Order: sequence, then structure tokens, then C-alpha cells
Amino acid sequence: MIVECPANMRLHDYLLSQDIHILTACGGRGSCGKCAVRVVKGSAAVNPMDRIWFSEAQLQDGWRLGCQVYARETLEVELRV
Ligand code: FES
Repeated sequence: MIVECPANMRLHDYLLSQDIHILTACGGRGSCGKCAVRVVKGSAAVNPMDRIWFSEAQLQDGWRLGCQVYARETLEVELRV
């Protein structure tokens, strides 16, 4: 499933506003890795928690922790729901 997240929003907040639920076993603290998503269009910053869960190749391919993504621009994001 691919969703378009508007700019200037936390991805997780946007998904909840659309009644879309991703796995967030740790409550969004970045410690479970269950919320993995892939940014397929647009650019999302890599944060330190992403570096714990994903290889450099995965980061280059757009993988991020969905609970940690803040969309500074419109993003297209592939979800595993
Ligand atoms: S919800 Fe656990 S790492 Fe994102």
C-alpha cells in the first residue's frame, strides 16, 4: 500500500488521521523496528534510530522507521499493512 503524506507532518500522525495503523509495538520510541516503511518518492531525513535498524543500502533504498518520519515535503511511502 502506498500513501501520500503531506508536507510538515509526522507520518505516524498522518496515518492515524486516515485510520491507517502500522505496527508500533514500542509505542513509537524507535526501539522495536516493527514500523518499517519505505519512502518511494521525496526525501526523509535519516535519524540515529534508523541507523540502528537499517543497513546503509536499505537507507539508500528509502527504508525508515515509520514512527520517526517527519515529512518536510510531500512523501510517497510504501507501507507493509
Ligand atoms: S514503533 Fe517501534 S520502532 Fe517505530
